[in-house]
Amino acid sequence: MSELLRFDGKVVLVTGAGGGLGREYALAFGERGASVVVNDLGGDIKGDGKSSSAADKVVEEIKAKGGKAVANYDSVENGDKLVQTALDAFGRIDIVINNAGILRDRTFGRTSDLDWDLIHRVHLRGSFLVTRAAWNHMKNQKYGRIIMTSSAAGVYGNFGQGNYSAAKMGLVGLSNTLAIEGRKYNIHCNAIAPTAGSRLTQTVMPPDLLESLKAEYVAPLVLWLCHEQCQETGSLFETGAGWIGKCKCSFKRALGADSGPHRAAQGRGHREGWEQICDFTDATKPAAIGESISTLVEVLSRVDTSEGVTPNPTSAVAAAP
Ligand code: NAI
Repeated sequence: MSELLRFDGKVVLVTGAGGGLGREYALAFGERGASVVVNDLGGDIKGDGKSSSAADKVVEEIKAKGGKAVANYDSVENGDKLVQTALDAFGRIDIVINNAGILRDRTFGRTSDLDWDLIHRVHLRGSFLVTRAAWNHMKNQKYGRIIMTSSAAGVYGNFGQGNYSAAKMGLVGLSNTLAIEGRKYNIHCNAIAPTAGSRLTQTVMPPDLLESLKAEYVAPLVLWLCHEQCQETGSLFETGAGWIGKCKCSFKRALGADSGPHRAAQGRGHREGWEQICDFTDATKPAAIGESISTLVEVLSRVDTSEGVTPNPTSAVAAAP
């Protein structure tokens, strides 16, 4: 897919690029002409410690192949500093790959405040801060490509990963909204749920599987999604072992049952209507929040005013979060 893709003149920031998937992305962009900011805090998989050696090594690898790269050792929690490194070294920022990650797996009841907060600070808040720092530059230049790294653990849930799966699904929501807000500025944002052998997965996968699921099989998808010719935005892709499948983020929704606001307020109608509420015959797939809200507006338009409820569709829209 990506053999012929070039990124000459483009500046890419890859977070957590000192190892695993991020390193592959950084090397691939470097080989294809991009100027690369190789960010990595250099800590352990739980987020403890720091070191500059991981990022430095990847920068050396890129330069040894004739590419252009600089290192940044800040945590993604300092998003501004990462983007400033790109601006100082290369004068612009075109592509942001939010990839840095840690794990603090615990069953839910054992999850400490720190287990929850640190995972969110690195994955969700880190991606927010790095991307926000790049956003206005992308807007002004009317060009930007952003990747959010989600996970199958977020999409499907996974035992012992409540903190991680919540953050990873949060990134899908953020990606969907950035795709909407970025569209008119030619800023595209997509999410990926990769699977690859890395230090994060080496404790949960057998060695032969780890060996076969190479990080380099994931990189071509990321490159394509970040290329100026790729028009994809607001999507989520599962990928691994060279396989890529797009996931539909929109939910299938049953036609549902309408017991009316008045009866609903009295707690009536749910038990009798439960079968219909859960019946997926003739289900719809609302693609945007507007379609979701229009259902409620339609329900209100059927309200009998004698029920004491104002059938005012605009108030329903205004109240929508
Ligand atoms: P990895 O541990 O090899 O790479 C993650 C890198 O992020 C490390 O080099 C680490 O030093 C860096 N990092 C951690 N915290 C940081 C921070 N605060 N600031 C800057 N850098 C930081 O792991 P891997 O597997 O390459 O993971 C990359 C991303 O892919 C992560 O977001 C992970 O959650 C996600 N992912 C990976 C899967 C897999 O199968 N390997 C599965 C699903 C998601």
